[in-house]
Formats: sequence, structure tokens, C-alpha cells
Amino acid sequence: MNYRIPFNKPGLAGDELRYIADAITRGHSAGDGAYTAKCHAFLQERLQAARVLLTTSCTHALEMAALLLNIQPGDEVIVPAFTFVSTVNAFVLRGARPVFCDIRPDTLNLDERQLEQAITPRTQAIVPVHYAGVGCEMDAILGIAGRHGIRVVEDNAHGLFARYKGRYLGTFGCLATQSFHETKNIICGEGGALVVNDAAYAERAEIVREKGTNRARFYRGQVDKYTWVDIGSSYLPSDILAAFLFAQLERYELIDAIRERIWRRYDEGLREWAGENGVERPRVPEYCRQSHHMYYILLPSLEDRQALIGLLRERGILSVFHYLPLHLSDMGRRFGGKTGQCPVTESVSGRLLRLPFYNNLTESEQGEVISAICSFTTRPVESVGRAV
Ligand SMILES: Cc1ncc(COP(=O)(O)O)c(C=O)c1O
Repeated sequence: MNYRIPFNKPGLAGDELRYIADAITRGHSAGDGAYTAKCHAFLQERLQAARVLLTTSCTHALEMAALLLNIQPGDEVIVPAFTFVSTVNAFVLRGARPVFCDIRPDTLNLDERQLEQAITPRTQAIVPVHYAGVGCEMDAILGIAGRHGIRVVEDNAHGLFARYKGRYLGTFGCLATQSFHETKNIICGEGGALVVNDAAYAERAEIVREKGTNRARFYRGQVDKYTWVDIGSSYLPSDILAAFLFAQLERYELIDAIRERIWRRYDEGLREWAGENGVERPRVPEYCRQSHHMYYILLPSLEDRQALIGLLRERGILSVFHYLPLHLSDMGRRFGGKTGQCPVTESVSGRLLRLPFYNNLTESEQGEVISAICSFTTRPVESVGRAV
């Protein structure tokens, strides 16, 4: 079906085609060319990270993290039950057992109050996901991880340049991952980055990313030939994609300002309706500066959510939901996942609705979405009962 107002439209910042043409003309379209270097320098300087390495996706950056942490069969990794499969799959690929933790009902981030009880002697890593680019409770998470000597890998697919208590997300864990998939704020089609905050992982990260070879050292003239030194794979994107990405990174402040305006318009336009209909709006703690990655609402029930999706569809508007509880997926159940194990995740997953959100969403399109939603009345709360 063709929607008049789609859910997402990849936005261009302006210089993408010019930089791509330049990357091709320079004659280096493989990975680690001039534009990759520009992206690395840009991200490293802004994030003040020991090393940032572009990858072919956030999924691949997570796989690299699992390799760098030497995750072994039987190790346990604590993940939120409400996340994208890659957060978990990357570690399961190494043989780890995922331990699903429920989320907070306010920010929908991993509930740090339930973290300690999920830790066992086999726990090797905690992977908080900054949902919608709103920071997890990093003080508490780092405190618990530190006390138990467990490493933290942030899945920051949604939250590039968002902050928690003034500090950029993606700079708290020993490693963090970013996504530049076309649905994100800063895009290059498919792409990602591994942020290396603990310099002890930097050299091995280069090796793992380059098929297990010391090619990066060879290019720097530190060894006179390059060879196979470790396990690894091909995680580096073409410089053509890096050229696309650099054009976006250069304009990230403008992109964020546009997205902030869209986010606020939704929030203000829906406030009264939400209050009258028992609908929850996103909650952002005052010490978090979010990335304006998405706007979602939480309907009182699954029935209301499905009915609203239908109403919007009739008006040519595509709204979507996401993240089925991972512990209840086929794979999650193989790891012992059971209904009732993560009640907030289970409730939120059936009630969450994401609204169209893209950089060139016009004011009149957004007005249409808001008035369509405001024409919808949820069923009385007593008839469905509050889920959480
Ligand atoms: C939380 C989270 N982590 C990881 C990913 C995977 O990102 P990519 O498509 O760049 O592999 C996504 C994708 O949407 C995501 O939402």
C-alpha cells in the first residue's frame, strides 16, 4: 500500500552526491579512504573517544564488541528484553546466553533496579540500549558493573550526540555502537560505528575489523608487511558510503534542530488529547538531552493501538510499532524466556505506536497526523485495565 504520509523518508543534507562523486574520482572506493578518515576524525573529536571505527552496520559493530570482549560459549550477557535483535544476536553468535532484563516504565530503558539480581558469576557484559536516544541511568549501571567487574557495551543505535548529565551517550561503556541505517538521524543507507572508549581495545578493534589482519599497522608504516594475526571479519564500509555519511555528519546540528522542532510539535499537539485519553507521551529526564530520533505514544491497550493504526492507515498515514519482546520470540524461548518474565516489556510492546518522523515532514503533513490522532477516542481505561 502507498501511504501519502510514510513513516520514514531518508533525508539528504545537501553534499552527499558531490562527496560520493569525489570519493569515486579519487580512485579509492574501498574502505578506509579519505572520507572514512574524515568521519573517524569528526566522530573521535566530538565524542572524545580513544578510537572510532566506521562499520557496515550497528549490528556489525555489536559483533565486533562481542569479539573484542572475548565472549565464549556459556558466558552470560545482560540485555533489555525490549530491543532490536542485533543487541542480543551479536553475543549469541559467540555462544553467549542472553539474560533478559525488564525495562523502566518511564524511559523504556533497561531497568537498572533489576540489574543486580540478573548478575551471576558467568556474567561477562551488560548491554544497555538508549531507547529513542534518551540516556539509560548510566550512573547506576556503571556503579553496579564496576562493583562486579563487568564490562558495559552501550547500544547507542538511536542516540548519537544525545547526552546524559552533560556527557555524550556512547562514551560511558568500554565500547559503544552507532547506527547510520536510513531510518536513523544521521544516515548513509547502511552503516554503523564502533566507539572505543577504553584504549586497551583500540588496536585489536582495527585487526578484527580488517579480517583479522594487521593491515592498519602496515598502512601506518609500523610493520613492513601485513598478515593474519587474530580472528576477524570484513566490517569496514566502502569509502563511497563514508562520503555519504560525512555530508550528513557535517550538518548534524541542523538535522537535530529540524528533528527537535518536529518532536516538540508532536508533543505539544498531542498533550491535551493524550491526557484525556489515558495515553502516555515519551518521558525524558531533565538531565538527559535526547536525540529526537522518534516520537512514540503508549496507548492504554493493544486494541486501541491497533484501532489507531487502522484509522491512520485509512487516511494514508503509516504508523508503526516495534520490538516484540525478545524473551518471547522463538529464539528467546529457546533460552528459557517465559510470559510474565518481563511485564513492562510485554505491556509496552503491545501499546507503543511510532508516528511518521523524517527531516522533511512538512508542518501541514504533521498537522494532518495530529488531527487524525485527535479524532480518535480510546476505550475507557476501566474496560481494558492499566497494563503497568
Ligand atoms: C537498538 C538497536 N540496535 C541495533 C540496531 C541495528 O542497527 P543496524 O541496522 O545499523 O545494524 C537497531 C536497528 O534499528 C536498533 O534499533
